[in-house]
Amino acid sequence: MRVDMLDNTIICEGDDLQKSLNYIDENRQLPVEIEKIILNVIFKELGLKYDKSLSIKDNLDLLPKDLLTEIIWDINTMFKGNRTIDYRDNYLAYVMYYLPVNVFKIWKPLLDLHINSTLKRDARILDVGTGPGSVPLGIIEFYKKLATVYEEVDFSLEFVLVDAQNDFLRIANKIIQSVKMYLPSNLKVNLKETICTKVTAESDYNLDKFDYITMSNFLAIGEGNNSKYSYDIVSQFADKLEEDGSFIIIEPGDKEHCINLKRLRNKLVNNGKFNVYSPCVGIWEKKDNYECSCFNTVRLRWELPNIFTYFKKNGLKHSLRKDVPFNYTVFRKDGFIKYEPITNIQHFTKLSQLRENIGSVINIVAFIRTTIYRGDYIKLALCDGSSCYGGNIEGVWIDIPMDRFEGIGQDIKLIAGERIKILKVLVNKGGRNTFYLNLTEESKIRIEY
Ligand SMILES: C[S@@+](CC[C@H](N)C(=O)[O-])C[C@H]1O[C@@H](n2cnc3c(N)ncnc32)[C@H](O)[C@@H]1O
Repeated sequence: MRVDMLDNTIICEGDDLQKSLNYIDENRQLPVEIEKIILNVIFKELGLKYDKSLSIKDNLDLLPKDLLTEIIWDINTMFKGNRTIDYRDNYLAYVMYYLPVNVFKIWKPLLDLHINSTLKRDARILDVGTGPGSVPLGIIEFYKKLATVYEEVDFSLEFVLVDAQNDFLRIANKIIQSVKMYLPSNLKVNLKETICTKVTAESDYNLDKFDYITMSNFLAIGEGNNSKYSYDIVSQFADKLEEDGSFIIIEPGDKEHCINLKRLRNKLVNNGKFNVYSPCVGIWEKKDNYECSCFNTVRLRWELPNIFTYFKKNGLKHSLRKDVPFNYTVFRKDGFIKYEPITNIQHFTKLSQLRENIGSVINIVAFIRTTIYRGDYIKLALCDGSSCYGGNIEGVWIDIPMDRFEGIGQDIKLIAGERIKILKVLVNKGGRNTFYLNLTEESKIRIEY
């Protein structure tokens, strides 16, 4: 790996891609020291003493039972219904449950940038609606991996955090300062500023430009008027983004939030504010117009933190998924996209032409919309931008036995947004606007991450 001194980007060479893919493929686990930092902060907020000599469980046992019950009740009910959430009442519950859940989501957009040699070595980040710092923490953890693998490179991160809740900013500050004690010596982290303000569609900030602007779960339905004014809120930050910067929006993985994010994406791109870098870019041509607002979900696997297991034993109702669902888009202003369009189009059949090819064996190229791991096979939903799909089932589906991935060079878990080429696949019709592809003996699969 080398650094492009002009662009300050990290250039992947040789086996860098494989190494980088391995970061995200290893089961992500919140380091125990971070769980302890979170608990330490919570105990301080409650005026209790966190005992470093005890285990996480033994410390949790010290929480007064009525307090524990209240926190778990808050987690169980926080995002029920469409009401606006007032975090003043339950910010500790958010810190203990949603902070860990949201930390690793940013890894997928960062990986998208990194594998295309677009990640910045020295990055200035504006995180809007930072809460207790889930995104900064996720970025720090990602760069920690980079810094550990590439010891010869010096990395630096500088954050400006914005939130309407001072309690959250105080906690984000404490967490980031504590995490700094565990950084490798070639990674510097600086929390430059925390700004406590309510962001509106007409906010006027005296801020410099940033390499990454991030919004995670900020435009969500429980966040007051943010979803209603999402276009104006996001647009106003466009001139705070460096020309080669990336604007990363992450939203919950359910249908309503997914469709809202796609509608927002369509408006931002169609009005020329941004281009999409990933995940939905054109297979056959560069897209400067988006109409589709289909539902799909990105799923990132992780190991459950100790705190969650403890909560589960004490009444937490959430199913504690080992794959966290979400959606994201990486926007840019410079027209740069994750994959250049396919030019040898004559060798492939567009997915919009499947109806005319039922029973035929064809070659396809598509993006992976969703991956569902089912034991010894993986179910993929595919899209090449030539069709639009509604509902949960509509679309193009294929089941691929895991052993078919052997020998294709990369043995890495698929997440979503990867480009897949499948040669010699058989087309079958399903229900309305639904097609199933079947591998044949001769099928060949190639994945571009
Ligand atoms: C769901 S939390 C997300 C926190 C963090 N980004 C994450 O993904 O875990 C939403 C955060 O945005 C903040 N927020 C919501 N609307 C806001 C606004 N208009 N201005 C400033 N902060 C806002 C809330 O206080 C809360 O901390």
